[in-house]
Amino acid sequence: MSYPYQIKSLEQYHQVYKESIEHPEKFWSDIAMHFRWKKHFDQVTSWNFKDPKVAWFQGGQLNITENCIDRWAEIQPDAPAIIWESNDPEEHHRILSFKELLFKVNQFAHVLKNNGAKKGDRICIYMPMVPELAIAVLACARIGAIHSVVFGGFSAQSIADRIIDAACNIVITADGGYRGNKEVPLKAVMDDALVRCDTVKRCIVLTRTRTPISMLKGRDCWWEDEIKKVETAGNPFCEAEAMDAEDPLFILYTSGSTGKPKGVVHACAGYMIYTNYTFVNVFQYQPGDIHFCTADIGWITGHSYIVYGPLSAGATSLMFEGIPTWPDAGRFWEIVDKYKVHILYTAPTAIRSLMSFGLDYIKDKNLSSLKVLGSVGEPINEEAWYWFHDHIGKGNCPIVDTWWQTETGGILISNLAGVTPSKPAHATLPLPGVQPILVDEQGNIIPGGDASQYQLPDATVSGNLCIKYPWPSIIRTTWGDHERCRTTYFSTYENLYFTGDGCLRDTDGNYRITGRVDDVLNVSGHRIGTAEVENAINMHTGVVESAIVGYPHDIKGQGIYAYVIFSGQLDDKNLVAQDINQTVSRIIGPIAKPDKIQFVSGLPKTRSGKIMRRILRKIAEGDTAHLGDTSTLLDPNIVEEIKLGRL
Ligand code: PRX
Repeated sequence: MSYPYQIKSLEQYHQVYKESIEHPEKFWSDIAMHFRWKKHFDQVTSWNFKDPKVAWFQGGQLNITENCIDRWAEIQPDAPAIIWESNDPEEHHRILSFKELLFKVNQFAHVLKNNGAKKGDRICIYMPMVPELAIAVLACARIGAIHSVVFGGFSAQSIADRIIDAACNIVITADGGYRGNKEVPLKAVMDDALVRCDTVKRCIVLTRTRTPISMLKGRDCWWEDEIKKVETAGNPFCEAEAMDAEDPLFILYTSGSTGKPKGVVHACAGYMIYTNYTFVNVFQYQPGDIHFCTADIGWITGHSYIVYGPLSAGATSLMFEGIPTWPDAGRFWEIVDKYKVHILYTAPTAIRSLMSFGLDYIKDKNLSSLKVLGSVGEPINEEAWYWFHDHIGKGNCPIVDTWWQTETGGILISNLAGVTPSKPAHATLPLPGVQPILVDEQGNIIPGGDASQYQLPDATVSGNLCIKYPWPSIIRTTWGDHERCRTTYFSTYENLYFTGDGCLRDTDGNYRITGRVDDVLNVSGHRIGTAEVENAINMHTGVVESAIVGYPHDIKGQGIYAYVIFSGQLDDKNLVAQDINQTVSRIIGPIAKPDKIQFVSGLPKTRSGKIMRRILRKIAEGDTAHLGDTSTLLDPNIVEEIKLGRL
């Protein structure tokens, strides 16, 4: 097995990049030949960013699971597809070969069908990081149902919002899950969510923690019982549904600067080809390598680089249920040592957190199997980069700093491990087929900011990062609201996809992402919308109004700073702050809890009533000397009060 489209040298990268820009259709069509199609496509792409309307490989039919499982089960049936390591180091690990994975996905595909699922249905998955989560995802894809995975840390309210938005008819969950020394009562949370969701006819429950739960007659059934029924029925093979290239594969909800999270929709063929291509090239995967992506499948990183990217390449994907710091801060290194991991793909927040525990947890671990390290989710600061490079990679492993988004489906800007140069804190160069461009606030192109023009800037330039040509896994729509997709990503700048990120480009052409330029926070690599958190805080009975900003946080990258106007008794501020945190946990989930809550008597607003977040951000950052002009505020005195009360 080899990957004919794997780039092997810097020269080849430049050549392939040029070809991909000059002849994008030929470029992608050549790559698409290496996949299993049920019917070949007629047209490589058709697109406009105005509506927007983007399609790839139209006329083609395929099923992603045949590409991820069947074709590998034929040529390497016993090769490990998924290695699973439990939260509990004492619990025995599990290994599923491609043959076994095929069997289990087929079985569960039958379970879904027996429970009324059909092509096009939306199925919500709220599960712990166990192999059955990957099996559930793939079984949906096999029968053409659209999965919507919700991360296990979200609240009942957040799940309900997502189920209602997509009108799911089936949900899949577990009695509970383990996270470090905690048990998460998944089914109980799901029960609370389902009170509001009348489209849901079936809830399939996997046994994991044996936590006592209630099962509702007629709606709830056990995963294991349903599997037994399939076993009794005989032949477990389930024909993979023929999917049109542009049929939706999944919905994944993500936060924006306004309103509720939106359901990002990805399409079958383009997503498959792009995640595969980027997996093989960025990580330089070699047959037999063990790829360990530490993300949760509840986020896009898990979808693309635990499940679909690796499996479609016949790779071995290591799935980990626990957290990096339990039972101790050596957990990742122990796993690397135990399975002789070759590729470790993680997040800067995890690296910073583990750094803070010192080197003791590393010294007795053998990390010599590692070949490639990867970073994703937020800008990686130089200190974390060097620590990762020196102490984990022992100076021998290239670090790929991969920039991308839920909406992009796969990595757009990154060095290719050991093939193109890395530069600390820089995502570096675009993947072939990707055409980044920097623009100013008015949409003017920044000279030297456009990778497809081969013109390097004379000095580092800065702008807002856009992409000017579609790649196969670009977002297709936001579920149920195409207009929202247009206004969010395609209307800020004409004819460009706008990423929402600020970016620099150096004189060698390397891109460096500087962070969001909109009201979206990035907390521990997770995207959190300020409006969403404010709405949650405002649900507390005593809260009159609130404003959220981000501030630099040593471990999380960004912390959440809340300014709250409170009408009730404030005798014990800590108690009220705890109450507010509880409310946010209930409405969104613990990940959105503010790190700091400052009670204020007013917020700095313009005469038209707009909150001046710039000022609040500066105060939260501790930069009170450079607040700029405050004379246009409705009440300039409020700024003094807020400065004095800063936490
Ligand atoms: O701001 C960028 C940051 O994360 C955002 C995307 O978040 P999400 O959709 O949750 O996906 C995270 C995992 C792909 C981006 O707009 N981001 C992601 N990767 C990087 C990054 N910022 C800097 N460097 C990165 N490598």
